[in-house]
Amino acid sequence: MFTGMLHTHVLVVSLFLILYLIKTFLLVIGKHDMLDKFVKKTKVPEMIISTLFLLTGIYLAIYSGQRGAWLWVKLFVVACSIPLAVIAFKKKHNASALLSLMFLVYAYGISETKSPFMTENKPFDTAGLQGVEAGKAIYVAKCIQCHGDNGKLKLSGAKDLTVSALSHDEKIAIVTNGKNAMMSYKKQLTQQQIDDVVAYVETLKAN
Ligand code: HEC
Repeated sequence: MFTGMLHTHVLVVSLFLILYLIKTFLLVIGKHDMLDKFVKKTKVPEMIISTLFLLTGIYLAIYSGQRGAWLWVKLFVVACSIPLAVIAFKKKHNASALLSLMFLVYAYGISETKSPFMTENKPFDTAGLQGVEAGKAIYVAKCIQCHGDNGKLKLSGAKDLTVSALSHDEKIAIVTNGKNAMMSYKKQLTQQQIDDVVAYVETLKAN
């Protein structure tokens, strides 16, 4: 369910951005007649897209395991962009349209990086720890919000780690590259740390 919602959200947000880009472009180059025609023609699809945008977004915000300051900043930024966009196209005001577009792009950046400053996450410090010990520290810091301390929590569409049928290498690939709601950890963890955390995940299975 969560994964389906996530894919629908990404799809409708992309469609929304494409429509918005076309409208902003027509506005900025001064093709106001064309803009009005385009707005009229796309009125119904746009209403459907915006509604799905909001509904899937609310669902994801409620059921996501990763809630933090970034999510509130993102919601605030999206909320600000809406009245700006309405004013921009009603009053044919270029600056408002561009500002609103910047807000939307910023919100997209926050979503991708899960950080209001869009900074890449700092490498995780496991100094002094090795192997499964290091893996446990990483697991507690990075993984429990979706997988739970025993691996059985299935937030954000996560899989039960204690019954995973994946091989060590397949698990490494998922932690490295991410999958659906699970983000990629290749920037936050070293290759060794990814290996360690997967080794720890494998101990959850034994218990
Ligand atoms: C935002 C929530 C979230 C966080 C945080 C998270 N995961 Fe996941 N994890 C998921 C989701 C969702 C899936 C299922 C992906 C899919 O197959 O659609 C998953 C799948 C996995 C799988 C594959 C399980 C299987 O059998 O398919 C492994 C292994 C895994 N996660 C390990 C980790 C580790 C290790 C961490 C911490 C470094 C972590 N996860 C952090 C959400 C999360």
